[in-house]
Amino acid sequence: MRIVLFGPPGSGKGTQAATLKDRLAVPHISTGDLLRAAVKAGTPLGQKVKSVMEAGQLVSDDLVLDLLEDRVAQDDARAGFILDGYPRNLAQANALDAMLERIGQPLDMALLLEVPHELIVERLAGRAAAEGRKDDDPETVRARLKVYAEQTAPVADFYRQRRQLSEVDGTGTVDEVQARLMGAIGAGDSVTAA
Ligand code: AP5
Repeated sequence: MRIVLFGPPGSGKGTQAATLKDRLAVPHISTGDLLRAAVKAGTPLGQKVKSVMEAGQLVSDDLVLDLLEDRVAQDDARAGFILDGYPRNLAQANALDAMLERIGQPLDMALLLEVPHELIVERLAGRAAAEGRKDDDPETVRARLKVYAEQTAPVADFYRQRRQLSEVDGTGTVDEVQARLMGAIGAGDSVTAA
């Protein structure tokens, strides 16, 4: 199963994907995690993207696509994946289409987690205090939300027009959101990793 999981920063994509990947027996591929790993390792890519990420802006499409193509080419992604954080704009949505067509692995669905802005700000303030992620300070969160509204939100229409979009309420407990996502996937509890 190939799923795009998207939604505003702090909507719970990473939290939900961490469990969904086991239930669906596919890897969780997060472009944010891949980029943060590159920054942490101090690779040339990491050095290039560090300041962009800290400012809450999008890394260039080409750099992210290269990273994603390398990850999707790995063996564990053959059976599918949950893609978190990609696509982030219409150019990336088209690039993903082209890549999946090239490798003969069509996308099954796009899941959009919907969470009101006030709740996002509250969640990310909590994470900034607990984990110190640099892009969680209130000013950068505002920048990330602006980028989302301007560049990523239109991706919903891209998938809606293709009848591949499911909108899921991302409020409530982690378990409640997970149950809604499983319902949207149409798998209920019957899809569980062996
Ligand atoms: P990325 O890592 O993708 O960040 P993001 O989209 O801003 O998402 P977050 O990781 O902040 O939030 P999330 O939705 O995963 O929520 P989470 O589960 O963590 O990207 C970071 C940066 O990398 C970008 O700004 C950009 O610079 C770059 N980048 C990445 N992909 C790119 C791309 N394709 N193109 C260009 N640039 C790219 O939850 C958030 C918090 O809420 C946590 O503390 C969690 O514990 C809590 N929480 C979650 N669910 C609940 C719940 N139900 N109830 C209460 N608390 C909850």
